[in-house]
Amino acid sequence: MLEAAPAKVNLHLHVTGRRADGYHLLDSLVVFAGAADALSARIAEGLSLHLEGPEASALAGEADNLVLRAARALAEAAGVVPRAALTLVKRLPVASGIGGGSADAAAALRALNRLWGLGWSEARLAGLALALGADIPACLASRPCVMAGVGEVLRPAPPLPGCGLVLANPRIALPTPAVFRARAGGFRAAAALPEAGWADAAALARDLAGWGNDLEAAAIGLCPAVASVLAALRALPGCRLARMSGSGATCFALFDAPEDAAAATAALPEGWWRWGGGLHAAGAAGL
Ligand code: C5P
Repeated sequence: MLEAAPAKVNLHLHVTGRRADGYHLLDSLVVFAGAADALSARIAEGLSLHLEGPEASALAGEADNLVLRAARALAEAAGVVPRAALTLVKRLPVASGIGGGSADAAAALRALNRLWGLGWSEARLAGLALALGADIPACLASRPCVMAGVGEVLRPAPPLPGCGLVLANPRIALPTPAVFRARAGGFRAAAALPEAGWADAAALARDLAGWGNDLEAAAIGLCPAVASVLAALRALPGCRLARMSGSGATCFALFDAPEDAAAATAALPEGWWRWGGGLHAAGAAGL
């Protein structure tokens, strides 16, 4: 049982309000990139998680990985004994605004739903997912969507053009709660997305330019390197638009085609985490 856990990219992110419990209400056009972690699962006696891949060391000290929490939560809700050996190939930087941990947890829910033969629907898994993290319901489907509420209200995104994405992270972890806390300013209306979608990356970039990421200024305040990443992305030939994703520090740049994005990454500093390619090809397997 092998599941891709693709990176989530917020093409825009408006903070539209705040709930009584402190969670923020969001409006965000979310897409998934070809960049992904990989999670595999097989039946075993107990529940275990093996970490490998270039970014695994960042998680090694963590006592309770979100993947294990997701596995235990699913087993408990389904009334089964959690029997699985999980392997996570970690390629996405942690605490970086592209939902790596959320994507991993979502991949675990999808994989174990099949491995344990539970037959839960995507909607039923999403209910469980929300309790584990606001981004996890969106990551379950890994399809482009418009996110509202704190992350639990999802509708399909308007048709997107084929386009390229560069992702770059200065290798500085930025904790999401700190960024939300540092955000100044009021609330913004949801973006008015065209139902017909966009013909090409240029049209998408023109609309995105009118919207923004309401966490970007706060993230730059906490981590000035985000401004350098944005400047470097904007200087890449062919870049249509550059913006921070989620609560940062990863930023994305939009290109006309995946090949353009892949070629452009070489010009970014080698010390950064960088990736170039296209959008995640299909929706989640197995649902
Ligand atoms: O749900 P998740 O664990 O991803 O969120 C991490 C933190 O980010 C929350 O504890 C909260 O401080 C903040 N957050 C928020 N509003 C959201 C999502 C996250 O304030 N919609």
